[in-house]
Amino acid sequence: MNFHILTLFPETVENGLNSSVIGKAMEKGTITVKAHNIREYTTDKHKKVDDYPYGGGAGMLMQAQPVFDCFLSVKEEIVKRSGKSPRVVYVTPQGAVFHQSMAEEFAKEENLVFLCGHYEGIDERVLEEIVTDYVSIGDYVLTGGELPAMVMVDAVARLVDGVLHNGESSQTESFQGPLLEYPQYSRPEEWRGKKVPDVLLSGNHQKIEQWRLEQSVVRTKERRPDLYQKYEILKNCENHLLKNKLFHMDMLEALRRGNARLLYFEEDGVLLQEKNSGAYLFTTKDRTSGEKILRSIFSDPPQREKVKLFVSHQECMNAFLCEFFSINLEMECIQAVYTRKEPLPVKRGMDIRKLDAGFLSALEKHYHGYVEAGYVESQLKSGVMYGIFEEKKLAGFIGMHKEGSVGMLEIFENYRNKGYAKALEAFYINLHLKNGWTPFCQVETENEKSLRLQESLNLYMAKEQLYWLGK
Ligand code: ADE
Repeated sequence: MNFHILTLFPETVENGLNSSVIGKAMEKGTITVKAHNIREYTTDKHKKVDDYPYGGGAGMLMQAQPVFDCFLSVKEEIVKRSGKSPRVVYVTPQGAVFHQSMAEEFAKEENLVFLCGHYEGIDERVLEEIVTDYVSIGDYVLTGGELPAMVMVDAVARLVDGVLHNGESSQTESFQGPLLEYPQYSRPEEWRGKKVPDVLLSGNHQKIEQWRLEQSVVRTKERRPDLYQKYEILKNCENHLLKNKLFHMDMLEALRRGNARLLYFEEDGVLLQEKNSGAYLFTTKDRTSGEKILRSIFSDPPQREKVKLFVSHQECMNAFLCEFFSINLEMECIQAVYTRKEPLPVKRGMDIRKLDAGFLSALEKHYHGYVEAGYVESQLKSGVMYGIFEEKKLAGFIGMHKEGSVGMLEIFENYRNKGYAKALEAFYINLHLKNGWTPFCQVETENEKSLRLQESLNLYMAKEQLYWLGK
C-alpha cells in the first residue's frame, strides 16, 4: 500500500514514520510513505503559499494553487501506475472522527492521499475539487495536519498484510470487539511486592482466556462506559440469536469475530452488515415485522441501491426483498455447524499447504461456485486458501468465504474418492477452532454429496434454510 502525504513540512512526516514497525514495513517494501512538499508547487516567485482570508479573521490560509498543482502531480503518478484516482483524505478538525472501522476501510485502498492543512486551513475551492474524505483525529485542535496524518498512516499501515506479523491475514485476526484490552504482565513474577495473577502462570489456556475476558469487561465498564454499553447490546443480541444457534451461526460468528456492523436489534429481528463481504444478514419474526424493520433502516432509495448481497433467514421475506432492493434469489442453503471444541482427526500423510498467488489459474479453472469476478483471486491473496497435494501436484483446495463460512471446496476429477475432501475440511475446521471460532459451512440444498460430507464430519445442520440474494 502506498501513502502520499501533501504537506508544507515533509521532514516532520518522514522523520516521524521511518522507525519501528512502520519503518521496517517501509524497508521491506510492504508499504511506501512519500511526503510531497506543497511549497515546491507554488508559482509565487517568493515561494509564498498562504494569504489573508477574505472577510477578515485571524491567521493565514493556504492558497488553492500550490495545493492543487501538488495534488495533480501526485494523482498523475498514481493513475499511471494503478489506473485509478485515489481517495484523498483532508485531515481537519471539521471532519468525521477517525476510528478503527475507518482504518479498516482505508486499508483496502492501494493508494491513499493525505492532505495536511496548516495555519488556519486551506482555501475551500481546492478542497471542493480534490477531497473525498474529511477526517479529524478527535475533538481538539492541533497546529497542523501532519500529526493527525501520521496517526492515521500508522493505524492503517498496521492492518496491511505483512506489516505486523508476516503472512497473517486480517480476515483471520482474532476478535477484539468493543472491549478494551486486558492487563498484561512480564518477568519478574514479583515486583515491588506485586505478584503476577496466579491464573497466568497456570498454563490453563481456557482459564486464562476466561480471566482476560473478565478483566476486559471490568476495565471497559470502569474506563469507557460508552463502549461497555455497546458491548452489552452485542451480548444481548448474541443471546437472542443463540435461541436458534445452528440457524443463526453466520450472524453469531460475524458478531463474535468482530466483523459485524449491527444495524438493528429488537425482539422482532436482527439486521447486521458483515464487513468483509458487505452482505446484509437478516432474521426476523415474521413478514410484517421484517418489512417494517427494512423500510425503517433503508428509508432512502439511494441506500437501498447500495445493497448488493443479502442473506435472508426467512423464505417469507424473499419476494419483498427482491422488489425492495431490486435483487434476485441466487441460492438456497443449509447451514452446517461444527459445535465441538475438540479438533477433528486429519488422515495421516495428507500434504495440505497454504496456497499462494501462483495457484490462481488452477483455482479459477476448477472453482465452480457462484461468485463475482475477482473473488477467487481476492480470497487467495488474503491467505485463506489451502490446497491438498498428491506427489507434489495440486489435487484439490478449500478456503473461507468472505462472510466467514468454510467453503470453496473442490477436488479435481482424477483425485476423487480418496478421502481428500474430508481431510481438507477437517484440517480447515481445525484452523478455525485455533482462532477460537465456531466453524460453519453453507451448503446448497441440493448438494447431496456435500451434505453427506458435513454429516460424516459431525457437523449439525440447521432445520431451516437460508437464502442468498444478490444483484
Ligand atoms: N488539524 C488540526 N487539528 C486536527 C485534528 N484534531 N484532526 C485532524 N486534523 C487536525
